[in-house]
Amino acid sequence: MQKQDKPAHGMWASRWVFILAATGSAVGLGNIWRFPYITGEYGGGAFVLLYLACIAVMGVPIMIAEVMLGRRGGLSPIHSMKKLATDNKVTRRWAVIGYLGALSGFLILSFYSTVASWALYYAWEALQGVFQGISAADSQAHYQAMQANPWLMLGMHTLFMVLTMGVVAMGVKKGLERAVEILMPLLFVLLIVLIGYAATTSGFAQGVDFLFAFDFSKLSGQAVLDALGQAFFTLSLGMGAIMAYGAYMPRELRDKKSGQTRSVSIVSSVVIIAALDTLVALGAGLAIFPLLFTGGLEPAQGPGMMFVTLPLAFGQMPGGLLFGTLFFVLVVCAAWTSSISLGEPMVAWLVERGMRRWLASLLVGLAAWLLGVGSVLSFNVWKDYTFLGGSFFDNIELLSTSIMLPLGGLLIAIFAGWIMKETQVRKELGMKSFVLYMVWRAMVRIVAPLGVLAILIGFLTGALD
Ligand code: PHE
Repeated sequence: MQKQDKPAHGMWASRWVFILAATGSAVGLGNIWRFPYITGEYGGGAFVLLYLACIAVMGVPIMIAEVMLGRRGGLSPIHSMKKLATDNKVTRRWAVIGYLGALSGFLILSFYSTVASWALYYAWEALQGVFQGISAADSQAHYQAMQANPWLMLGMHTLFMVLTMGVVAMGVKKGLERAVEILMPLLFVLLIVLIGYAATTSGFAQGVDFLFAFDFSKLSGQAVLDALGQAFFTLSLGMGAIMAYGAYMPRELRDKKSGQTRSVSIVSSVVIIAALDTLVALGAGLAIFPLLFTGGLEPAQGPGMMFVTLPLAFGQMPGGLLFGTLFFVLVVCAAWTSSISLGEPMVAWLVERGMRRWLASLLVGLAAWLLGVGSVLSFNVWKDYTFLGGSFFDNIELLSTSIMLPLGGLLIAIFAGWIMKETQVRKELGMKSFVLYMVWRAMVRIVAPLGVLAILIGFLTGALD
């Protein structure tokens, strides 16, 4: 089974394509929308430090485990887990990791599309100059008017879902690979341009200070839980996206120049992906906070920060029309390369069961779209229907990101650390340094599961409220 002579879905052309694709999955609304506003709410630097610690101690080890399981299995997460369970002579019920993941991907996709479609709409509006000279009250009213308009939001949600599933339908090589090869470089260029722009504003020093001045008095138990949850979400862990992408990662590649084959290392790839994801989150903070301070605005604005406060800042600045448009285009690119990874695991599974890829993409897209309609309506028509104090949107988000992702991550860590035969693990990882391997093993067996358990217990006992 080590041989993957006939991959079911195609293989990434190189290690760099895998890194780009996985970074595309990781870098998304979590980095540009969520990270800055959570950081804003926790008062800046102290939270950033916690978040970095969570990425290093828990995120990287679990990501290594997830890619490893994917490459070993070589199939969609559901079938990979079945195969790995059989190989390791344990119950095939471990496929629950795959099922749970496919389901959470589907749930996340449904609400992710809603927020991404706001960014799509804002990119269009920024280009039209809608935010030029807008007042604070008008910016707030504008955001609310968009949310109050179900048809507008449905249209945008539909467009974003078509963009996403259109790429998935085209397959690993022509769809995913091509999309990340175009969108990721664009994303990095846009981010650098925007940071450069922010650096010219008078609030830059204050913005940098806000991100990097570590004020430990702000740390609380709640902040730790949120930092852990964010680390999970931002690295796309626990739902099989990274496992599916790992399955398309070759074990060996021939060097074009020397003609020699070289093994493709999981560990160094994951370190690069996590570093890039972190850089983009910090970069987004560097691009956003200076603009807010320059405009005399508050960073602690909650989820609306990107759609209310930021347009206000762009509306006041010279060059705001251009840079505001570029900013929202950046958000759309980031969200797009993430959303395709949310759909891929389930589509890959259907394809392995004999369905045509276009049909599988259509069905998964339709179902996620339909569920997403609930999220869209929870901002207007269904606004008054709440469950446990939250709207449909809130509950789907909570269930998938606060419960299902950590649970998936916990199971992945347990499988990789305790169930899988060590010889297999070592072979697949091919780590040269024994010490590093032992560090990873301790993290994945003990530290990461305990960390994830802490999130889950914290959440279930209400500490997250
Ligand atoms: N990592 C993505 C982001 O930060 C979200 C995501 C989660 C994508 C899980 C795929 C799987 O926006």
